[in-house]
Formats: sequence, C-alpha cells, structure tokens
Amino acid sequence: MLSSRKLFVVANRLPVSRVRRGGEFHWVTSPGGLVSALVPALRENRGTWIGWSGEGKSTLKPFKHEGIENVPVELNKAELEGYYEGFSNATLWPLYHDCVRPPEYRRSWWSTYVEVNQRFAEVASKLAPDGAAVWVQDYHLQLVPGMLRARRPDLRIGFFLHIPFPPQELFAQLPWRSEILKGLMGADLIGFQTRVGAQNFGQLARRYLGARGRYGVLSFEGREVRYADFPISIDFRRFDDIARTPDNAKRIRSVRKRLGEERRILLGIDRLDYTKGIDSRLKAFRDLLATGAVDVERTVLVQTAVPSRERMKSYRDERDRVERLIGEINGEHSLLGQSAVQYLRRNLPVEELVALYGAADVMLVTPLRDGMNLVAKEYAASRPDERGALVLSEFTGAAHELYNAALIINPYDVDGLAAAMLAALELEEDEQRRRMVRMRRVVSGHDVYFWANSFLEALAA
Ligand code: G6P
Repeated sequence: MLSSRKLFVVANRLPVSRVRRGGEFHWVTSPGGLVSALVPALRENRGTWIGWSGEGKSTLKPFKHEGIENVPVELNKAELEGYYEGFSNATLWPLYHDCVRPPEYRRSWWSTYVEVNQRFAEVASKLAPDGAAVWVQDYHLQLVPGMLRARRPDLRIGFFLHIPFPPQELFAQLPWRSEILKGLMGADLIGFQTRVGAQNFGQLARRYLGARGRYGVLSFEGREVRYADFPISIDFRRFDDIARTPDNAKRIRSVRKRLGEERRILLGIDRLDYTKGIDSRLKAFRDLLATGAVDVERTVLVQTAVPSRERMKSYRDERDRVERLIGEINGEHSLLGQSAVQYLRRNLPVEELVALYGAADVMLVTPLRDGMNLVAKEYAASRPDERGALVLSEFTGAAHELYNAALIINPYDVDGLAAAMLAALELEEDEQRRRMVRMRRVVSGHDVYFWANSFLEALAA
C-alpha cells in the first residue's frame, strides 16, 4: 500500500513562495491545483516536497510549512539560464507545444539540464527511505526518474508530464531524444494529460529505445514500465463553494455594474504565454467589431493576463504583441467611458476570479496548444447557475473531455473563431444549461483529488 510508504514530490518549484510582510519574509502556499491536490496526500504520508524556491542563489535549509517538509534545491544564475530559461523553456516548452515558436537547441543548455536534474535526483535519493514513493513532476525533470532508478532501485518512481507530449515528427528534432526517453523510462508509471500524448510516448519509446509492448505497458531493460493518461483537474468543490456564496452574487453584480449592465461579457484568463492564443481571440473580436456583428455598447471583452517568464525575450515579445493589439482595438472601437477590451495584467485573488467567471456570458479558451487548461474547468466549476458558454480550442487537453459541451474551435481559423464567439453570445438559455450541466458533471466527477488518487493508486499497484 502506498499510504504506508513515505511520499516525495519532486518538482521544479516548491509549493510555497516567500513574501515580504512588514519587513519580514514569510512562506505562503502557492495558489493552484497541483499544490492543493498533492498537499493532502503529502500530509497523510508524512511527505516531503523537493523543489527550487524560485529565488536566486540562496542557502535555504529544509523547513516545514503547514505540515509539509520542504526541501529547497538551489539554482545559481548560470543554472537558471541554462536549465530553466534555456533547456526547459526555450527548447522543451516550444518543442512540446507544437513548435509554435522555433525551439532552440544548445549543447550548453543540455549539459546544465543534465547537471540540475542530477542534483534533484541526488537530493531525493539521499532523503527517501527504503521503498518510498517518489513522484516527479513535469518537463523540467524528465531525467530524474532514470537517475533515481540508477541510484535507488528500491524506490517506487512515478512521473507526470503537465504539458503535451509531442508526436514523433516534432520530438525527433531533439538532439537528446533518446536520453530524454531513457530518463522517463526510469519510472514505474508515467502519466500524460491525454491518451494521444501517452500514445506518442509509447511509439517513441519503441522506435528510439527498442522498448517492446502494447499500449500502457512497455518492457525495457528487463523491467516493466506502465504509462497512461491521467487528465489533471481542479478542486471543483472550492470553486463551486465560493460561487454559491452571497458575497459572490454581490461581486458578480458589481462586475456587471462596472462594465455596464447592458453589456454581454466575453472573458479570457491566461498566463501571458505565446501558446495561449490570446492574439487569435483578440483578432476575432476585432473582426466582430469591425463588421458590426457586435458593438461596444453591448459587448465587452475582459482579458486578464498574468505576466510570466518575463526575463525571456519570447515572452516580452508576446506581451508587446498582445498589448499592441489591445491598444489598436481600443483606439479604434472604444467609446468615452466604455473600452472595447478591458485589460488587467495581474494575478487576481480566487474570489475575484470566480466573480468574473460568474459574470462572463462567454469564456474564451483559445490556446494553440495546451496540455490541459484548467481555466476551462474553473469556469464550469464557478457556474452553479448553469449559465454561460465555453469557447474551447481543440488543441487543449480539456477539449478531450469537454468536446460535447463546449463550442470547439480551431484558434488558427480566425473567421471560425469569430463565428463561434458570436454563436456563443447567442446561445439559447436551454442550450447553455444543457452544455453547462455536462461540463460540470465531467469536472466534478474527475476533480484534482480523483487525479492524484488515481495516479498514486496506480503507482502503488
Ligand atoms: C506550466 C507548467 C508548470 C509551470 C507553470 C508556470 O503550467 O506545466 O510546470 O510551473 O507553467 O510556469 P513557471 O515557469 O513560472 O513555473
């Protein structure tokens, strides 16, 4: 049984970050589904989380926060550039997201990636007691399962990839493709967001490593490696509970009042990343305004974007592109006191998010490629009133689950996207309800606790 084993999570980031309050530093738990999903399992198993603190070079000691042991892994400036910004975010991130930006292949970044993965593996292998379960997270640490297995064959090792796993035509570009596959194959169980991602992995492991086997189980170097899709989710109850409070009803009324009672609201909520297709939805909205299909007196697009990875030029460029487009649209179409696009570049507290979801007639989730996209699921969870409509890119993991409830679009097809936005604005109430009920059923039946439990149970089996 896994619950009798000690559980270690190894992830690029720790589940906490340091904030300054009244001149003193405090640790606060980071928001987000992954952290809230794993925290109960870690508490139950007296678990430990190994990760980078998000800070520059520091010599932080392990510390306990809210019942969880946190073990910081240090990264110096060169490592931050080579491992995190370089290999993880300028090589793997674009490569795994359909090459929507050209991946850069640099040998020095690869060496740093290997070194840093080695450090994470060393820390885990020193701390984990005999027979412990170690669950490695995401693309930053794909070599860790293999490195751990070499040191500690007694461990139960799991790996989950939060982003898409690309098809052979793209993955084959990677000069270190066999090393990455071998690294992953060190795990007992490998999880992907979708079945397609899992299938891609199976094909590649057979092709480049000579692994044998059918879908779901491979044999390699005398061991069995299982792999499958485990679509990640959100804490449905948390969003649903907030959405049902009288305070939320008040906040929704205030959002509607401030934006204009007469206006229908289209909403986008994203990390500011070039994979999110923010420009596609802006262009589609611009077209709808230009043709008069919608007008500013009766429609507004609210776009919140959380700045991300801003030390990297590709991210700064994306921000410029999005902000220029918003400026153009507003310059051309806004009225005095009524902007066509309301743009908030910041992180919002969850209560404000839920109120925005609750006020939005149409939610726009239009990534060019996305492992899952939790915003789509949060929207459904925040709508106990069973109203609203979701426009969802077919290139998200979420579309694999919500395909018969959302309005599915191709974000490269701006005309098609504009048509879907209009259709969503015009969706009859009965149809909104029918679709929303379905979406909520999917998300509540498969919340993030279900995700974590299914993975950990499969790992223990
Ligand atoms: C994606 C990745 C995560 C990552 C997050 C934020 O969701 O799958 O692993 O933590 O983006 O990016 P950052 O680079 O700020 O950690």
